[in-house]
Amino acid sequence: MKKQVKNNVYWVGKVDWDLRTFHGYEYTTHRGSTYNSYLIQEEKTVLIDTVWLPFADEFVENLAGEIDLKQIDYIIANHGEVDHSGALPALMKHIPDTPIYCTANAVKSLKGQYHQDWNFQVVKTGDKLDLGNGKELIFVEMAMLHWPDSMAAYLTQDNILFSNDAFGQHLATDKLFNDLVDQCALFQESIKYYANILTPFNPMLRRKLDEVLSLNLPIDMIATSHGVIWRDNPIQIVNKYAEWAADYQENQITVVYDTMWNGTKLLAERIAEGIRAADPEVVVKIYNLSISDVNDVITEVFKSKSVVVGSPTINNGILHAVAGFVDMMKGLKFKNKKAAAFGCYGWSGESVKLINELLEKAGFALINEGFRNPWNPDEEQQAKAFEFGKSIANA
Ligand code: FEO
Repeated sequence: MKKQVKNNVYWVGKVDWDLRTFHGYEYTTHRGSTYNSYLIQEEKTVLIDTVWLPFADEFVENLAGEIDLKQIDYIIANHGEVDHSGALPALMKHIPDTPIYCTANAVKSLKGQYHQDWNFQVVKTGDKLDLGNGKELIFVEMAMLHWPDSMAAYLTQDNILFSNDAFGQHLATDKLFNDLVDQCALFQESIKYYANILTPFNPMLRRKLDEVLSLNLPIDMIATSHGVIWRDNPIQIVNKYAEWAADYQENQITVVYDTMWNGTKLLAERIAEGIRAADPEVVVKIYNLSISDVNDVITEVFKSKSVVVGSPTINNGILHAVAGFVDMMKGLKFKNKKAAAFGCYGWSGESVKLINELLEKAGFALINEGFRNPWNPDEEQQAKAFEFGKSIANA
């Protein structure tokens, strides 16, 4: 059943309570998600985005229960990714000639995925679509937020920004609006989404936020494509994005490691104690990467001013959980963060050198040469690890 968003704007999406991973298995979604699709019923009837492919038939069936599909005058595809475009093939079978408004890059992404020559109408920033009753949709290209094809659409008079992925969260809820959900969960899922998906695009995001704010469009609601619609103080999430896009950090140091026989784990704990001793104010968190949710740990790194990375040496290399995690950090292009390495070894002992190289390639400023420990740390070595922690806090 459709749910009213405001006046003649309705939500016709899908709440996916079962979703536990997204982007394949790359992003954990502990709280499920929603795929938000919107129906505008003015003189013209407009559908904004659809839902993920597995829910395509259900979506089309539900939509056909609300309106005669042939009444849809325009489809807006704000983004080509399959979680929003997945029901297009099923829908277009019913209304093959209906125009699809999207960016030039979305024509490429939609054709690339569905191999269909639908009636694409390419739009650019500032282009408008008249919906009758004095209302218009104004399009704003959002290239690289987070795909080249991304765009937003703004509905005049109702003052709703359909922002697609931007400002969204993976949060399954039957409540449509931000003021009706648990605020801690909402904030946690919003920052996790930003940290894991949008961080690489910080510079573009800063420019786009300035551009959108300079348009001085009144914004009563931000209707995202995942999670809630921001209606209570919608600018709060815009302000958060401005903070997060400015190479965000809190007074936090995060220690991440993996361990084989607990030597490197012991170092992690002593290093954390040293950090706490040198700076009682700093928040210190420790994660064993092999048993932690990497997306949650990435969120902690996002909040950190420094990250300390540990692995023992194995086969002249490092443990795969650590290698994979540093590669994730590299892809996310974190800026303005410091780092240091540590690890135990029995004979060849390359791990710290290798981690240093990976951290530098990932854009972190190395605090020092790192801390290497032969075999299991004895009391003297543990004391040195403690001092090493202090040096990181003081860096
Ligand atoms: Fe929610 Fe980029 O798709």
